[in-house]
Parts: sequence; C-alpha cells; structure tokens
Amino acid sequence: MHALPSRPVRARRGPPLGGTAQVPGDKSISQRALILGALAAGETRISGLLESGDVESTAGALRALGAELTRLGPGAWQVRGVAGQWRQPAAPLDFGNSGTGSRLMMGAVATTPIAVTFTGDASLRSRPMARVLEPLTAFGARYEGQGARALMPVTLHGAKDASAIDLHVPIASAQVKSALLLAALGARGESVISQAVLTRDHTEKMLRAFGAELTVLPEARPAGTGERIILKGPARLTGCTVEVPRDPSSAAFPLVAALIVPGSGIFLPDILLNERRAGLIETLMQMGADITVKNKRVSGGEHIGDLTVRHSQLHGIDVPAGRAAAMIDEYPVLAVAAAFARGTTRMRGLDELRVKESDRLAAIAAGLAANGVHAVIAGDDLIVEGMPKVPGGGTVTTHMDHRIAMSFLVMGLASEAPVTVDDATMIATSFPDFEHLMTGLGAAFEAA
Ligand code: S3P
Repeated sequence: MHALPSRPVRARRGPPLGGTAQVPGDKSISQRALILGALAAGETRISGLLESGDVESTAGALRALGAELTRLGPGAWQVRGVAGQWRQPAAPLDFGNSGTGSRLMMGAVATTPIAVTFTGDASLRSRPMARVLEPLTAFGARYEGQGARALMPVTLHGAKDASAIDLHVPIASAQVKSALLLAALGARGESVISQAVLTRDHTEKMLRAFGAELTVLPEARPAGTGERIILKGPARLTGCTVEVPRDPSSAAFPLVAALIVPGSGIFLPDILLNERRAGLIETLMQMGADITVKNKRVSGGEHIGDLTVRHSQLHGIDVPAGRAAAMIDEYPVLAVAAAFARGTTRMRGLDELRVKESDRLAAIAAGLAANGVHAVIAGDDLIVEGMPKVPGGGTVTTHMDHRIAMSFLVMGLASEAPVTVDDATMIATSFPDFEHLMTGLGAAFEAA
C-alpha cells in the first residue's frame, strides 16, 4: 500500500443542511461477512457491502489465503470460501489502516497450521496487537511481533490440532472477542469465551447464520457481569446470504452536522440500530436532540430503522462509562456536538480511545483546543465546555485517523470561522463517499 500525499480540506458555515443521506454499509458487518464467507464452504452472497479501504484490505488478504471474491455490482459481492482450509500465503498480508480486519484475521488463521505475516500502514503499525495475539496462544498459536505490545509486522504461526479453551477477556474489545471466536471454530471441543463488557455482537449473530453452534449465557466468568459465549468446534460453516445495514458510525457525521447547523433537517434511512451500537443516539437524545426513529424492522438478522434529525439546541450531560462500548467510535463527533451544547459534557471511561487509529482522546482534545473550545482530559474522562459560538479557525492534525478528520469537518459547518483538517485521505478507509454525500446535503467543503 502506497502512502498518498496529504489532502487538506476546509469546512465553512453555510446554509441549512437538508435531504436524504444514504450512508454506506456497516464496516464491522462488512468485514465479518467477507471473513465468514471466505472461511465457509460454498457460496456467500453479500448485498450492501461497504466498499472502502479497510474492507478492500481484508478482501486482498482473503484472496491471498485462497478465497475467491467477486464484485457483482455496487455493494454486491460473491465469496467462494475455502471450507476451513486456508492456503499458506506467499507474502505478508497488508491490512492498511484496518485494526478490525487484521485482528479478526489473526483469530481466523490461529488454528490453521500456516505462518502468516501481518503488516499495515503507520497508524496500524503503532497499535497493540498483543491484546489479540497473547490470548490466541491459549490455542497453541505462536507469534513474533515488535516489542512487548507486539506491534506489526507480526508473524503468527497457527496451531495444528488445537483444543478448545476457556478464557476471560478483561478488555472491552469486540475485536479481541471476535478473534477468539474465529479461532475457536478450528479447535476441538467447546470453547468458552467470557467478556466483562457487552461489546458489539455481530460476530456471534453472523456465526449462527453460517451454521455454527453457539450459545450465549448471561454472566461472565469469573467477573459476574458480562456474558460468556460457548462455541463448539471444529465448526463447518456454510455460505449464506448477508444483507449489510447502513453504518450508524458513519451516519453519526451527517447526524451531528444536522443537529448543529441551524435550520437543518435530514433523513437517514436503513440505519443499523443494534443496541450495542446505539449509544450515540441515546446520548444525543438525552442532550435534547430532535431525532425520530421510524419504521423499525429486522433486516439480515439486525435491527434497523429510519432516522429524521432536526437542528437542536443541545445541553451538556454526563455520559456514563457503561455506555462507552455502545458508542466507542462516536466520541470524536460527540465531542464536536458537545462543543455546541449549553453547559458541560463529561464523557467517562474513554481509556480504549487511546489505542484507536490514533490516540483519539489526545487528538479530540487537541482539535477542540485548536478551534477555541475548552476541553480537558481528566484520567480516562473527557470534559468539554460548550459555547454559544464555537470560534473555529484552527487546523486539526488528523494523525491518519478517518474519524478525527470527519468530526472536525462537521465542526467547521457550524463554527464562526472555517475549520481545516490537515489530511482527508484517510476518510476513504471507512466512508469514501463522505465529502460527496455531505456536499449533497449542502455542506461547504473546499480544498485547503
Ligand atoms: C470493531 C470493534 C471496535 C471498534 C472498531 C470496530 C469491530 O474496536 O472501535 O471500529 O468491528 O469489532 P475494539 O474491539 O478495539 O473496541
């Protein structure tokens, strides 16, 4: 993967936003659909797949491991899986910016006796892989990485004849849980994966759809709270059809933009409303946001609905740490919403933000400060002082983080002076159509 030159973009205040925003397919579900389809026997048909840098990186890795992936049309993909038999790849697998793709694939290969080298861009190479690799050694896998945090490049030697494990995951990470579940597919016996925090459950849901035997019990071991998942291996997955709903983490950007730009009203159809992903909507409603959810239904095994969002005067609240997992990717844009709210917003328990595509806690605080907003990091909490008029006028360093770039472009749509982000190229990792979609709603973006 070649580093592209930086592309600075500026956002400025303009007319109210209006219209329909058809945001792309959910990134988490898209990654899982390709991976499970590639592992399964037979054919998987996917509709609504997110076609972005991160998903393309995973698709490339799956091809190198022997799966056949064919694009049939926009968002429509066919996958012919390897029936649990990955091929030894000839070269290192480059996952670009994608933590999810790389970590899930570490699990997916950990119980196959092949050696796979994982690498990625500068952002991914700075992120800890030990959180996934260390628990995978319980299956008998071995790894070599850089330093104690096992930074990439990392080589993973999958286990031969792996046996089931019983393991508690102490960190609130769906990626770690999912990696262990994918590894358990290739291990003999009933694996028990226990987690203290209820993180997104797309892997569990989709594994069932592909025919895995999986039971979820309320109560983690030994912690008590949380849950444990029991998966019977070796599991033979069978290809199926997957409908990918629209991504609530991408919807968050036009949604917050409509809340803070006076006079706005937008419509966001078919948004994934999985309760383990819906923390932002709950939080914004508590802050006084005018959001209506209509036409709630189930599609592809997930709850979805249509959102109507109107400009609202928000007020600051205290966001509990217990909600962090259900909105972990939405804190950058929530912090932007908080800057426009009346009063103070305290967001608690954000330690996991330090190991995202950037140190997001630091990047949010620095971006707010650069635009005249008072924000402090207190332990693992972020405290933002809302302002009647957000000054703007700053340039935000995005640190190769797509969500930092999109969040501060949203801020510039309602701040007094324009906001510039130093590089918008990384937006393509999750939401390639972002600038086009936002300008279609009336947003004023320009090359800086
Ligand atoms: C994801 C899990 C979360 C999230 C990421 C996607 C997933 O990461 O931040 O964007 O698809 O499982 P963690 O597992 O590190 O919390």
